[in-house]
Amino acid sequence: MQKNIGNKTAPVRLRFRPVRWQRDLTAMMYIERAGFARPWDREKFLLFSLRADVQAVIAELDGVVVGYILCELYDDRVHVAHVAVHPAHQSQGIGSALIQSTCDSSVGRPVTLNARVSNMRARELYEHLGFTLVQFKPAHYDDGEAAVVMRYAPWQPRLISDLSAPLGTNSLLPSAVLTS
Ligand SMILES: CC(C)(COP(=O)(O)OP(=O)(O)OC[C@H]1O[C@@H](n2cnc3c(N)ncnc32)[C@H](O)[C@@H]1OP(=O)(O)O)[C@@H](O)C(=O)NCCC(=O)NCCS
Repeated sequence: MQKNIGNKTAPVRLRFRPVRWQRDLTAMMYIERAGFARPWDREKFLLFSLRADVQAVIAELDGVVVGYILCELYDDRVHVAHVAVHPAHQSQGIGSALIQSTCDSSVGRPVTLNARVSNMRARELYEHLGFTLVQFKPAHYDDGEAAVVMRYAPWQPRLISDLSAPLGTNSLLPSAVLTS
């Protein structure tokens, strides 16, 4: 992928870095409102940011915030509490790369997440990355919708070997993954 700067072209790169809450919150809330029918509000983000047992990573595409993943770190698992990619940048492999980086840095722990039963796009993505359905939670969300709990265990065989192949391009693979 390339972008034009005047009459020059520069490579566009995906980079992951820890969230800097003061600087990133506005962009995150913009993505949140664009991506979710029931978005997290500012208070929910701020409460999350105050926790010591969490990890929050931003995806930047050529310096622009395009997505994020928020995880809770437990002794025996890592739980993906929230993940989003701006609609204009979806279907380019960024969501896969965010989740894959979480799985890769989970230090042997399984990774879990919840998804609305109706969120087939997200569920397909998780399945594609090797997550399996482990629990069904009826009426889990405020509006009464059920959740599926999905889990990725590092010792499970991957369903695919090359995450960059079908969806993204190699240029979209992150140049660096930094954890907070
Ligand atoms: C879910 C979300 C984070 C995914 O981000 P993304 O950057 O679009 O993800 P990717 O590009 O890596 O992959 C998503 C797509 O790949 C599909 N996909 C991934 N691997 C696939 C494979 N091997 N074969 C077929 N489809 C595949 C997914 O079903 C989805 O399909 P689509 O692009 O054709 O609609 C993003 O859609 C989003 O922010 N959604 C709104 C918020 C949300 O629902 N968050 C998750 C809450 S559980």
